[in-house]
Amino acid sequence: MIYVIGGIKGGSGKSTISTNLAVLMARKFKDILLIDADDQQTASDFTVFRSETMKDNLDYTSIQLSDRTVRDQTIKLRSKYDHIIIDTGGRDTTSQRAAISIADIYLVPFVPRSFDIWTIEKVSTLIEEMKIINPKLKSFSFINKADFSGQDNSEAANLLKENKTLEFIDIFIGNRKSFPNASSKGLAITEIKPKDVKAIQEFNALFNFLININLDLN
Ligand SMILES: Nc1ncnc2c1ncn2[C@@H]1O[C@H](COP(=O)(O)OP(=O)(O)O)[C@@H](O)[C@H]1O
Ligand SMILES: [Mg+2]
Repeated sequence: MIYVIGGIKGGSGKSTISTNLAVLMARKFKDILLIDADDQQTASDFTVFRSETMKDNLDYTSIQLSDRTVRDQTIKLRSKYDHIIIDTGGRDTTSQRAAISIADIYLVPFVPRSFDIWTIEKVSTLIEEMKIINPKLKSFSFINKADFSGQDNSEAANLLKENKTLEFIDIFIGNRKSFPNASSKGLAITEIKPKDVKAIQEFNALFNFLININLDLN
């Protein structure tokens, strides 16, 4: 399976989701490849922090690719891995399009703020264009950095649900300090102490959802 984490907004949590997914997937499956297709190289930085914290015992393989090589190299590598996770930058780039062109699953996190949610129209147009060359693509949206009070989560969710190109995943990942804390050490949310049980439960829910789509398609 090739999972692409994307969208056209920075700061929505693409790299956080990608790197946490890579670690959790590596625990359940054998060979996982994390591809950093963003010039900002956040996923690669995470891997460097992780190799320091874990004494080189990374669990997954990490590479950086850009532009058309995201497509060409991923196609070459796909048979060697159980799952591939591609982290993209927050813009409509050649790299992101190359990733979507070979993806099975396109996962787009949204922060529950208007300027972020409004990008869904552009994201859907991008998906519709990419479906011409990748008709099997399945696209999903969900809310990351959810608030702990107020109406913004439900208003954002309602807007995301209206969109027919992306299926809305009804799982909210809260805005929890433990995510940046874990990432800065190259650790997944399940690996830091003290344990943030709520954050782990939320991320596990997303992870299990993704694993199940996986089974559906196989
Ligand atoms: N659920 C979350 N709760 C708290 N902070 C988060 C969460 N998801 C991401 N972040 C933080 O938000 C910032 C941007 O996240 P990042 O994953 O780098 O976004 P992107 O890759 O989409 O630009 C980072 O500091 C990250 O640690
Ligand atoms: Mg990023």
